Amino acid sequence: MENWNQETIENFRKDLLAWYDQEGRAHLPWRENTDPYRVLVSELMLQQTRVDTVITYFNRFMTALPTVQDLANAPEEQVLKLWEGLGYYSRARNLHQAAKVVVFDLKGAWPESYDDLLSLPGVGPYTAAAVASIAFNQAVPAIDGNFFRVFSRLLKIDDDIAKPKTRRVFYDAVAPIVDPKRPGDFNQAIMDLGTSYMKTNDPDTLHSPVVKYNAAFRDGVEDQYPVKSKKKKPILQRFQALVLYNEKGDLLYEQRPDSGLLAGFWTLPLRPIDSIEDLQGEQLTIKAVTHVFSHRKWEVWPVKVEQVEKLTHNQRFLSPAEQEAMALPKLQHKLLKNLKEQHDVSK
Ligand code: ADE
Repeated sequence: MENWNQETIENFRKDLLAWYDQEGRAHLPWRENTDPYRVLVSELMLQQTRVDTVITYFNRFMTALPTVQDLANAPEEQVLKLWEGLGYYSRARNLHQAAKVVVFDLKGAWPESYDDLLSLPGVGPYTAAAVASIAFNQAVPAIDGNFFRVFSRLLKIDDDIAKPKTRRVFYDAVAPIVDPKRPGDFNQAIMDLGTSYMKTNDPDTLHSPVVKYNAAFRDGVEDQYPVKSKKKKPILQRFQALVLYNEKGDLLYEQRPDSGLLAGFWTLPLRPIDSIEDLQGEQLTIKAVTHVFSHRKWEVWPVKVEQVEKLTHNQRFLSPAEQEAMALPKLQHKLLKNLKEQHDVSK
């Protein structure tokens, strides 16, 4: 690992921030000001989705719920609806909880330090550091995938970034490099670098504003960084999805249990099966609907059934308008699309 002296550190900050001031994406809506609410919402959205997509969601969210007080007082349904399509709904639920903590428990006084921010629901080390640096000027490195890539190359850090303990190695190596006067801009400049000159595929390191600090590039081994061991393949689980319309054309839904994947969401009733030999109704499609979660891959086969015994407390027929008004998980949208396609084909 490289070890920069104070002069190198200061030159690096100067070159990085000069580039950021010239080329940085100042137009991004969450960079308009450093309101901690806006920073938190944008950072949570950006963890799972590309910048281009987030812009629309972020603006819509801010128009509907412009302040942390608005969010704290909003019904959960509204928050989930605004999040619909971004996936990972637990983030939306946690964000909602965090707003309630700030408004009701802390009387609107935001936690300002990295450690205090960590105590908010759903706020992990990356998000705490991003908010602490951007909104509260704390010199802490905000370590996400971009950050690992950029600094593993600049400093030739060989630790495996798939291992949780590696975060500490990067934290200790980079904390002294973060600009104490402009920590938020420093972190955001690294993000911009990581999605432009130092992106994963086809980087343009030669023209990067900090090429002269790039040890991996200097040594011709840039493609070996970051070091990352392979993730295990997600485990496959199969389900049949029961498709039942009532005489009004409403569709049967079932609410998922309170814990586990898609907790609390309404979907077609899903029943685990071992293989497609086990399907119990009329098979509606020759190609399953699939959805990948972080550690699981679901393969779902819609089957037409004639009736269900008696509606259980967690089952309801929903009209198209009701379905439209609810926040449905992506898997359910895929199922609906599949049903619609089948219907169009059969007509
Ligand atoms: N990715 C994560 N946080 C970001 C930010 N603040 N600006 C641009 N991209 C990001």
